[in-house]
Amino acid sequence: MLPLKGLILSGGKGTRLRPITHTSAKQLVPVANRPVLFYGIDAMAQAGIREIGIIIAPETGDEIREVAGDGSAFGVQITYILQDEPAGLAHAVLTAEPFLGDSPFVMYLGDNLLQGGIDDLVTAFRANAPDALILLTPVPDPEHYGVAELDGDRVVALAEKPPEPKTDLALVGVYMFTPLIHEAARAIEPSARGELEITDAIQHLVDTGRRVEPHIVQGWWKDTGRLDDMLEANRLILDRLAHRVDGELVDSQVEGRVVIEAGARLERATVRGPAVIGAGARLTDCYIGPYSAIGEDCVVERAEIEHSILLAGSSVRHLDGRMESSLLGRNVTISRGDRQPKAFRFMVGDNSDIEIL
Ligand code: DAU
Repeated sequence: MLPLKGLILSGGKGTRLRPITHTSAKQLVPVANRPVLFYGIDAMAQAGIREIGIIIAPETGDEIREVAGDGSAFGVQITYILQDEPAGLAHAVLTAEPFLGDSPFVMYLGDNLLQGGIDDLVTAFRANAPDALILLTPVPDPEHYGVAELDGDRVVALAEKPPEPKTDLALVGVYMFTPLIHEAARAIEPSARGELEITDAIQHLVDTGRRVEPHIVQGWWKDTGRLDDMLEANRLILDRLAHRVDGELVDSQVEGRVVIEAGARLERATVRGPAVIGAGARLTDCYIGPYSAIGEDCVVERAEIEHSILLAGSSVRHLDGRMESSLLGRNVTISRGDRQPKAFRFMVGDNSDIEIL
């Protein structure tokens, strides 16, 4: 068998409406201080894949290229593949055909995160040699996903976001294919939403007698741009953090699994893990509690923060109460002044959400 290649889909529509993605691509949303896309690249590198193609869109491609580079930081070689329009996941596969050639490949949707990596799947794919392998997980709202029906260890039917799903098994955004998928992608027609659907291409494999195997997984997350989902993704990753302190601690305590990047400085601070503190952050007279990700160059001073995400360059100063279950975008400042009478003063971007508890 030819060596397995990787294909990561980071194109798609440039809908930049949500608070965190209106300035950048959704595949660059940070999870535990790293773009979500990096976890897909890591998973492939870990599984021994060396050649990775990344599908990019004209609007956000440059930004993705700049962040992920040539792949050497991950020990892989990255080839960028421009998809002119977001015409569907199967269209992305066809766009990548010159790169993929006759190789079998893992396809990973760039806004998805699979906690346990893909080593087991690659092993199963090699051992059982199916024509395709799809990952599934039970979800409470299958109508929002591709949904599969099984017969034992075979996939027998797939539907893309069916209004009345026949099962609760959602297609997770990771797939393993043999080159047969190219022919299948060419055989299908665009769906009602005008896209060449990968679910239809896989259904075509099933209909032509090919063997499509299911693999049920746990620990999956997809970017929805919702606060609770972002916090959940953070928890998934922070839960398996390896302790590492490279920053500077002055009269400070670090408890549990914590990463403090080089160049961060803590003075009279307590950090209780799991938590990650980015490079160049300044934490002074403060408490950072479990499941927090404090981005690069953030400043926290005389404040308590727990179960929260601060993106790069944000600052929180002089808060009376504890900030919890919160998400701050880039370069946000929150502070408390001494002025009387006490009042609130906000400058908040589109689609933001503020709750005073
Ligand atoms: O996340 C899992 C779901 O992903 C599956 O359950 C569905 O079966 C599958 O169709 C897909 O559904 P979405 O509608 O959520 O896909 P979305 O448009 O969000 O695209 C997924 C990723 O692929 C995203 O990183 C953008 C990228 N993409 C998307 C399209 C349509 C491309 O690179 N090119 C494209 O043409």
